[in-house]
Amino acid sequence: MSATTVSATQGPAAVGPDAVPITLTINGQRHPLSVEPRVTLLDAMRTRLDITGQKRVCDRGACGACTVIIDGRTYYSCSMLAIEAQGRNIRTVDGLAKGDTLHPVQQAFCDNDGLMCGFCTPGFVMATVALLEKNPNPTAEQARKALDGNLCRCGTNIGVLKAALAAKGVTRG
Ligand code: FES
Ligand code: FES
Repeated sequence: MSATTVSATQGPAAVGPDAVPITLTINGQRHPLSVEPRVTLLDAMRTRLDITGQKRVCDRGACGACTVIIDGRTYYSCSMLAIEAQGRNIRTVDGLAKGDTLHPVQQAFCDNDGLMCGFCTPGFVMATVALLEKNPNPTAEQARKALDGNLCRCGTNIGVLKAALAAKGVTRG
């Protein structure tokens, strides 16, 4: 048996190209759905589940607008397949507010002019939440570094940094 035949017969079972049933756990809720394996987590959320908080801006892992928290760390949801996200705890900006009460990080963005057009904002908010859950009292330098995977084309970076530092220590409030 050739090496090629061995890897073809012993590798993981192939799925697709047709839609396959998967279940995603997003903001604490289980969502069964059927997607082609090529569909990204971002597109599965936005176009199949109507969970539209994270934005599709560059769709190529360059801007951070699609940032979600999965099992405690940030990911670009445009750069992960939906089928890869099964069995994991996915969090989006949609799940942060409690009723009419914004999450402290969301409130800090409002209070500190951390947004203009708003397309980058959900990604920045999730990156900030992830930072503060891991390090509740970051220095400005640590906050800047944690947010350097997110871009704002409107130039709100100073407001974003102020918001992140204003929300220090209150993220679970
Ligand atoms: S939309 Fe995902 S990184 Fe830009
Ligand atoms: S507020 Fe417009 S891209 Fe950031």
